[in-house]
Amino acid sequence: MEIVVTLEQLREALSSWRSEKKTIALVPTMGALHAGHLALVEEASRRADRVVVSIFVNPLQFGPNEDFSQYPRTLSLDQAQLKRHGLASVLFAPTVSVMYPSGASRTTVVVGRMSEVLCGRARPTHFVGVTTVVTKLFHMVQPDFAVFGQKDAQQLAIIRQMVLDLNFAVTVVGVPTVREPSGLALSSRNRYLSIEDKHRASYLFRGLLAAKSLFDAGERNPQVLVAQVIDTLHQVDLTPEYVECVDRELLDPVDGLVSRPVTLALACPVGAARLIDNITLDPGHHE
Ligand SMILES: Nc1ncnc2c1ncn2[C@@H]1O[C@H](COP(=O)(O)OP(=O)(O)OP(=O)(O)O)[C@@H](O)[C@H]1O
Ligand SMILES: [Mg+2]
Repeated sequence: MEIVVTLEQLREALSSWRSEKKTIALVPTMGALHAGHLALVEEASRRADRVVVSIFVNPLQFGPNEDFSQYPRTLSLDQAQLKRHGLASVLFAPTVSVMYPSGASRTTVVVGRMSEVLCGRARPTHFVGVTTVVTKLFHMVQPDFAVFGQKDAQQLAIIRQMVLDLNFAVTVVGVPTVREPSGLALSSRNRYLSIEDKHRASYLFRGLLAAKSLFDAGERNPQVLVAQVIDTLHQVDLTPEYVECVDRELLDPVDGLVSRPVTLALACPVGAARLIDNITLDPGHHE
């Protein structure tokens, strides 16, 4: 596996693959890699001949009072982990000045209303940062496939919409959330949690599963499903930032009863971290 930092180095690798007609999958990350990231790399390598993993802690997607400066940066460990894993062809780890050559970006990519709901309410500039940097990565790598985790369901829906709206020639692939045995979704920010925090954090998924049990037993009222999640979180004194039932693709709040596939999504502060999780509830799907 080659590690590249500049665009010149990246283009050199890409042009040799293109001349060999190899397909390319991109896995964008912020590093501090865990088994969830590796699942994306595995899916990428099933889809395409060559896999580019990017690691870039994107300043544009952090708010002014967020954890940009404290965010874990473990590039040499990440590099060793990817090498051992054996499926990535190139690790692209640009510096901030490679990614933002003029300093502050004067151009941004805005998907609009979908970026303002759910996490967008507490993080009003976050998704503009994400869609701008992902657009830049798509231009740099021109991948055939781009792989994202369903843990970040809002991000995945926004990127799918952006790819449609801007006619990007890339197939967006979503990968199911990888979890700890407790149910806690793996996340780089889990390293902010104590053992006690991690126990309480496992109630995020427990609450989503409790709502799913009601749903599977026929409950279709989104308010009842949301209340079940909130009650479960209260058992360990957690107060969510939001719990919402939204349309899976456009993220609109469910109006009336659940009659199409929905995402039941939440964000919740736990200790020093702000965690997110979600599940899909599909009324057409019977187990
Ligand atoms: N547990 C997981 N299972 C599957 N994919 C995941 C998981 N966690 C993150 N991803 C995906 O990895 C990609 C890169 O995400 P990122 O580097 O922000 O990791 P993260 O764990 O979400 O970190 P953080 O908690 O700091 O946001 C995204 O597409 C994200 O959805
Ligand atoms: Mg993340």
